[in-house]
Amino acid sequence: MTRVLVIGSINMDLVVSAGKLPRLGETLMGEGFATYPGGKGANQAVAAARLGAQVALLGCVGNDAFGAELRQHLQREGVDTACLHSVEAATGIAVITVAGGDNAILVVPGANHLLQPAHLDAAEQAFIDADVILTQLEIPLETVQHAAMLAARHDKPLLLNPAPAIPLPEALLAQIALLTPNEHEFLTMLAQPDADWRALLVEQPGKLVMTHGRHGAYYAMMRGKLLHQPGFAVEAVDSTGAGDTFNGALATFLPLGLPLAVRRAGAAGALSVTRHGAQGGMPTLAELDAFLERQP
Ligand code: RIB
Repeated sequence: MTRVLVIGSINMDLVVSAGKLPRLGETLMGEGFATYPGGKGANQAVAAARLGAQVALLGCVGNDAFGAELRQHLQREGVDTACLHSVEAATGIAVITVAGGDNAILVVPGANHLLQPAHLDAAEQAFIDADVILTQLEIPLETVQHAAMLAARHDKPLLLNPAPAIPLPEALLAQIALLTPNEHEFLTMLAQPDADWRALLVEQPGKLVMTHGRHGAYYAMMRGKLLHQPGFAVEAVDSTGAGDTFNGALATFLPLGLPLAVRRAGAAGALSVTRHGAQGGMPTLAELDAFLERQP
């Protein structure tokens, strides 16, 4: 059983479904509204836990009703919340519009931005206990940098899902064992918006997996040779959380080696879009295995 430490955000997702996304200045009638547990950190933690990993989540929620509800939800999913802090701020929220299987997301980080390096120092034992550490960019960058330092100190692989994308310092990039951007995040994190991602990817064997929506994922195991994990055909109803499911699964299956981990993560990500809510379609290990057995 892989032991995964996730350091990241916890949000309540406020989701409106609509026939199409409104344009700037346009008013449209929505079709439905629901709240779902979300946040990239929590989503990745739940994805890994459903797939059988032993997961601890290090993060912050507010001292409010959403914070209490999300903490209980994580506990029901089997995520260890001993390092989940309740702080004096509103719990993070995301306003999400879902239309035709696609989405547009606005995040208000709230409590997530109060996750400080000191919280990580206080949880150093969790780094020691983990096989893999997984983080994203919905928490302060200095906290991510501190996570990289602690992961290096304890010789643990750090996976960084660089979302939402910002240009990243070279010193941080050098400390990451595995980066998992999508195409846009890849070029943004390297501050090379016009570069050819294929050329950059094949220069980083074993260090980068680039997700490409329904087209699957790309990575390299040796310099100069691009590998492609094709996407899995499913009926998409809500793509929210697909990347998070991919990342939680990738961390869980990393001990199997990168090619197999990428295939299993791709299948988990595909299954996740077949139900509503960021975590709604995340598969259990049995569901993932059954799905993969049906593949050609
Ligand atoms: O990746 C999807 C997630 O992004 C949503 O759950 C939302 O909370 C935002 O963090």
